[in-house]
Amino acid sequence: MARISAGLTTSHVPAIGAALDNGRSKEPYWVPVFEGYNWTKQWIASDMPDVVVLVYNDHATAFSSEIIPTFAIGCADDFAVADEGFGPRPVPTVIGHADLACHLAQSLILDEFDMTVVNKMDVDHGLTVPLSLVFGDCEKWPVRVVPIAVNVVQYPPPTGERCYKLGQAIRRAVEAYPEDLNVQVWGTGGMSHQLQGTRAGLINQPFDRSFLEAMSANPEGLRSISHLEYLREAGSEGIELVMWLIMRGALGEHVEELHRFYHVPASNTAVGHLVLVPADEKTEVRS
Ligand code: DHB
Ligand code: FE
Repeated sequence: MARISAGLTTSHVPAIGAALDNGRSKEPYWVPVFEGYNWTKQWIASDMPDVVVLVYNDHATAFSSEIIPTFAIGCADDFAVADEGFGPRPVPTVIGHADLACHLAQSLILDEFDMTVVNKMDVDHGLTVPLSLVFGDCEKWPVRVVPIAVNVVQYPPPTGERCYKLGQAIRRAVEAYPEDLNVQVWGTGGMSHQLQGTRAGLINQPFDRSFLEAMSANPEGLRSISHLEYLREAGSEGIELVMWLIMRGALGEHVEELHRFYHVPASNTAVGHLVLVPADEKTEVRS
């Protein structure tokens, strides 16, 4: 049977991708950012997952403002690296796992999560920057990826509670997949940042730090954070944090925290990163 072995969260700042791609990662501004991922690189190499269910958001790249799915799942064999205006990042094509993705789509939809099935999709910095942070420079990504895209760019995004429950459903679906697969779930985006308006540049360190703490200690408290509270406390792009709750819901009630990293700033964003492993093997009952 497939199993979820770990969960990971990380910010997806596009300037991090640009720093790597343009050979600037050794500059003093960037060194502390990449240092926060050294532990993770070693850890993941010692227990490489077969597949990462990578929860991310599309930034009006694959989906224009004409079609904005709330939850979409990538069921293709591969996903091209998107051109976001400066040419595609020079990183490998993302290889999918169509069979697992189709199984997840079926399980989730029959479990009453109405996923949009996407059979062709270019993936932007929301997906490729987390891969680069964890795997560095490589000729081919060492894992297959099932992308799950979440709308956090156009109001109304899904609630944190809905995201947490989707994570629980992802766990049920993964555990019903017959092949032995080591699966990780990644929740990306965040932490506090605001890219526009009079509060552009907002970063709220106390909010971020208590969010990081609660991810392992008290996820119940995070499930009820409202859209207005995200906007007020974490800025207009801080809503990306609901994607972390999909990962958290997929890990079950109890987790062990293996690694935590927080750094301010990278570009306009507070960078947060966690590695968690499930502490109970029992599948949660539906709630
Ligand atoms: C920045 C952060 C993001 O999450 C994003 O999607 C675009 C830009 C930034 O910090 O500049
Ligand atoms: Fe973003």
